[in-house]
Parts: sequence; C-alpha cells; structure tokens
Amino acid sequence: MSFRTLALLAALASPAIAQAAERECAQSPGKVIEVCVFTKDGQAFYEVNRGGKPVLAAAPMGLTFKGEQQARFTAITDVKRSASDTTWEQPWGEQRVIRDNHTELSLALTGDTPLNKSVGVTFRLFDDGLGFRYAYTSVPAGQNVAVTDDRTEFKPVGVYDAWWYEGWGQERDEYLYKQTDARRITLAETPLTMREQGGLHLSFHEAALVDFPSMLLAGDGAGTYKARLMPWQDGTLAKKTGPFTTPWRTVLIGDSAGALADSRIELNLNEPSKIADTSWIKPGKFVGVWWEMHLNRSTWGSGPIHGANTANVERYMDFAAKYGFDGVLAEGWNLGWDGDWIANGDKFSFTKAYPDFDIKAITEYGRKKGVKLIGHNETGGGVPNYEAQLEDAMKLYESVGVSQVKTGYVHHAGDIIDQNGEKQWFAGQYMVRHNLHVAEVAAAHHIAIDAHEPVKDTGLRRTWPNMIAREGARGQEYNAWGDPTNPPEHVTIIPFTRMLSGPMDFTPGIFDVAHGKTDVTKRAQSTIANQLALYVVLYSPIQMAADLLENYEARPDAFQFIRDVVTDWETSKTLQARIGDYVVVARQARGGKDWFLGAVTDEEARKLTQKLDFLAPGKRYEAQIYRDGPWADYRSNPGAVTTEKKIVTSKDSLDLDMAPGGGTAIRFKALD
Ligand code: NOJ
Ligand code: CA
Repeated sequence: MSFRTLALLAALASPAIAQAAERECAQSPGKVIEVCVFTKDGQAFYEVNRGGKPVLAAAPMGLTFKGEQQARFTAITDVKRSASDTTWEQPWGEQRVIRDNHTELSLALTGDTPLNKSVGVTFRLFDDGLGFRYAYTSVPAGQNVAVTDDRTEFKPVGVYDAWWYEGWGQERDEYLYKQTDARRITLAETPLTMREQGGLHLSFHEAALVDFPSMLLAGDGAGTYKARLMPWQDGTLAKKTGPFTTPWRTVLIGDSAGALADSRIELNLNEPSKIADTSWIKPGKFVGVWWEMHLNRSTWGSGPIHGANTANVERYMDFAAKYGFDGVLAEGWNLGWDGDWIANGDKFSFTKAYPDFDIKAITEYGRKKGVKLIGHNETGGGVPNYEAQLEDAMKLYESVGVSQVKTGYVHHAGDIIDQNGEKQWFAGQYMVRHNLHVAEVAAAHHIAIDAHEPVKDTGLRRTWPNMIAREGARGQEYNAWGDPTNPPEHVTIIPFTRMLSGPMDFTPGIFDVAHGKTDVTKRAQSTIANQLALYVVLYSPIQMAADLLENYEARPDAFQFIRDVVTDWETSKTLQARIGDYVVVARQARGGKDWFLGAVTDEEARKLTQKLDFLAPGKRYEAQIYRDGPWADYRSNPGAVTTEKKIVTSKDSLDLDMAPGGGTAIRFKALD
C-alpha cells in the first residue's frame, strides 16, 4: 500500500483566499473541482465549480433541531486544509486496488442556537466529485436531540434531464425509471442521476449511512433539490444522543455516464473494514429454488408442490456441483409462509424448517459435493420478530456451514411495525439501524448478507464486507410476474442510477425468456445474449443463474458463458454508454488474466464498434463471443445466439452487433 499525506496545505491555490474570513475555497487534487463555502444573510452556503465553470450554485447547508429556531450562521472558523493520496485493497469487488486521492477542507460554522453553536463541515474533494458531512459537536454528551429538518440543497446550474421515480411509493425502490426534465422531479430516491444538455453528468447520493435516516431529494420545480429524510412516525427525522456526525452527501461529476459508474468516491468515503479476517466472505455463483416459485410452478408455503424439499434442493446441488456453482439458494424452507406472509411477517420462524426440508441432511449432502446451502430469511417486514430470532438463526446456519443468507422485507414501504407498534419507513433511521444490526450479528457468525427490499447501499460494504449484495431496484423477479415486466432499457439505466450505490442482486440468466407468455410485456424483454451480458454489465460479487435447471441443460452453447464468467474483479471499465440506450463494460478477472465484456442495448438494434485497447498490450486472447444470432429480437426470436471464437489483441476492434433488446457477452481468454 502506498501512502502519502500532505498535511495542512495551507495555501491551496484559490482566487478567493483573500477574503478568507467570509469565503473559504478548496480544490481537488488535479484542480478540477473547486468548492467554496461562505455565509450570507445568516445562512451558510457551498458552491461547486468544475474547470472554472459553475456546476452547483450556492446552496444552503445544515440541520435544524426540535426546540430550536432555524440557526443563523454568522462566521466561519477553524479552517483546515489537507490532502491525502492512498490506496487500499478490497477483499472482493469491482476493482481490487482503489486509489483514494482527495483534498479536504474542514471548517466550523458559528451559529446562534445552542445545538448549532459550532457545526463542523468537512468537504472531501476528488477530481470526479465530492462529499461533505456535518459534525454536530455542540450537542452535549448524553443529550437526546431530534433533527426536524435537513436544510442541505443541491442547485445544478444548467438544463438537466434526470432518471428517477417517485420516492416513498409502496413498493420501496422497485419502480421503473422515467427520464424527464430534472425540474419535474417531485421526490426522488438517490442515487439521483442527471445529464446536462452539454453532456455533463451528475449523480447525487450519500455515503456511510449509519444511524441516520436515508436521504431523498425533493424538487421545487425550478431546479433546486432539497434533502428530504425518511421520518419516524412522529415526524422526527433523526434521533441522536450527544455529539454526532451525519452521513456524507455526495455528488459525482463527470463528462460521461461511464465516469459516474467508474467513480470510487462512495467507497472512499466509508470507513475501512471492521471485519479483521474477511477470508470467509466469498464471491461466487449460485442457482436456487427460486424462479420456479416466481413462475408458480412450486410454492414457498407447504403443500403438494412445496419447492424447498430435500430432494429438490439436492437436485439443485447436483447441478451446482456438475457445472461449477458455489451455492444453492432455498427459499420457502422455513415455517411461516402459509397464509398471507406479507401481512403476517411476525409468523416466520427462522430456525424451524418445514418437515420435508432436512437442513442437516442437505448441508451435509452439499458439503460432500463442495456446494453450500444459501439461507433465506424473508421477514415480510416483521422486524421485531426477526430481531428476536436473529442470534439463534445465525448460530444455527453457522453450525450447518451456511455462510450466506438472503434476507427480504416484502411489505409496503412505510408500514413496517416496530416493537412499539409504530409505523416505520423501509429506510428510515430505524431500518438503517436494523440493517446494520443484522450485518453485525451475521458477521459474528461468519455469514454474508444479501438484502432484498433493503436500505439502499451507501458504500458500507467497505466497512462491512459481509454486506455482499442488495436488491433495491426492479430485478429479474419482475420478468416473471411484473405487469409490465422490465422494458429493455431498464438494464441500460440501472448501471448509472441504482448501481452507483453498490452491487445489485439482479439475478440474471433467464434463457426461457417467454416462459409460456405471448404478451411481450409479461415476459423477460431481452434476448438470451442480453441475459448473458448482464453478468458483466450488472456488477455483483454473487451472481445467480436464475432460470430453471432444464433450461440451461437445453442450451449448453449459451450456458457455457455463465459457467466461465467470474464474479470478482481486478478492475472494471465502462467503455461506452448512453443512459437508457446502451452500455458496454469490460472487467478483468481478479487473480487471472482473462477479461470479460458485456454490452446491452435497449429496444433498438445497435451496432457499436469497440476498441480492445483495455487488453494487455502485445498479448493474444481468444475472444469467445456470444452474440445475438440471425433475426434475434426480444419480441419474436430471443433465443438466437451465435457463438464464435477469434484471436484478438489490444490493437483490434470488434463490432458489437446487437438485436432489439439484445446484447453481446465475450470472454477474452488469455493465450500468452
Ligand atoms: C422478494 C425478493 O426480491 C425475491 O427474490 C424473493 O423471492 C421474494 N421476495 C420472497 O422472499
Ligand atoms: Ca424484491
């Protein structure tokens, strides 16, 4: 690890330094981004320039507390500047070694209320964006305080389009994105991504969301987006005791969609791992008793077609062992699914299996074959019930060799009932605490968590690498029963919206895309080649091959790519993209020389020329190409896949010829 710190760069070049008392500025390491902070008319403001041009106009900062007036800020004190350029290594990830090259500006705002008497603000500036957070150091130790407003605003300069959906909908974050003039935003979830007419891309989000409500952004119709925190039932936003620091508010700034996707600011603004030995946290691929329930071919609950029975799970284990998968997920193994499980989450047992599911026999069977059982804890939003059983459950799973558990919170967004009978939002402070609590208890038992219906990721996987993946968007499940299912453009949008927050358990790999449906809006709207490309385009350290096993055995030609693709990477690059239209991503296998490429298009057929200059110079590779075959089309001919092999070097280019709803997946097998 290289480490270089330039402490107290007191004279970071800034034209505004002359007025230091009222206005404090700092620039990113390459002097690309500049932030200035000042007070005016009793308010504290920050503004951001890039390459000398304004990107974010002056916007207010700070929190308001119950029992206090909105504070007036009159001065800036304690100004400190520093710079740091370090690297660190991820235990698993889209990139092994991450560089954290930033400058820091920290200062204190002097306010006129007791809790706002001195508010610390720290900015970290990177060449591709920034983060800032508040430190409420004036709150006396042990004193309970309630945050009633987050005054932070973002004011992009210029005319922007945005990709967003209405926040606080009952299906949490499982909505299709719409592209509109950004001023039409009413309430948007973050990451909130925008593109300016001139091509500048911005994305607003937060990092290190710990013991605080998650942030959405409310538009005012005129281009200002204000922080809106998910409240407690009494309207309080955050409940804190003693001095505290908020999560970072982040802004990614780049000339392309790819620059957003390849930014590592989210991770860099989180704390290093709290898990000392991470060797037990394993990326990998899995199959599972899952899609069959979503297609109504078997049931989660008990009965004649109960899916998670011992023989069926062992059948999946045989398949996993034969084709090189690491795990088998079994949903519906435990008591509680009978009846209306969404309404009766308090009935789930996380330790008692249905009689036809023998957890000991199954895990023993898997152990002999080198395949792990992946646990499943659907809570139906019954959080107190889950917390009461959590320790016993994790203990049981650890004792039988389970090292990964998928959790779930299927319940309407604001209707989770806490132990006091109060209603909670799915990502308010209560659930933020709960999510971390689950990860902590799981970590103590060497279990990684893949949370569905989660609190959005904010880079916390750096601190808790057992937070291995999340859902938090419309995934493949919608292609079974969604009405409509995900349109082709969905997978060209989420890499630049939801997935800027972290890995997603999308569960790619449906080969029988029609699954008996003729109406195209009721089936997977993609070709098989597109489904293959998703293993590279949609990053997750754990990737499911989601389809029924027989559909893979029927297509050994295409299935070979899923067998070969890896899920842990040395590095990742977004090569070409236009949000909502297409995306091309290349990733190099961690600990190997092979590269993989995934390209997907929306409903338009598209031919892209891709330079292979990401490959190691002077080396030969066998490009194993899986592309849309003749007349492939997601509507009429999704299954046509052409496979071909070519010898290529970094000097070559390839044409990526994609059908409507199509894609291309390539393994570049290193020959030298
Ligand atoms: C929703 C999850 O996203 C899905 O993967 C799971 O099968 C169901 N809930 C049941 O837990
Ligand atoms: Ca879901």
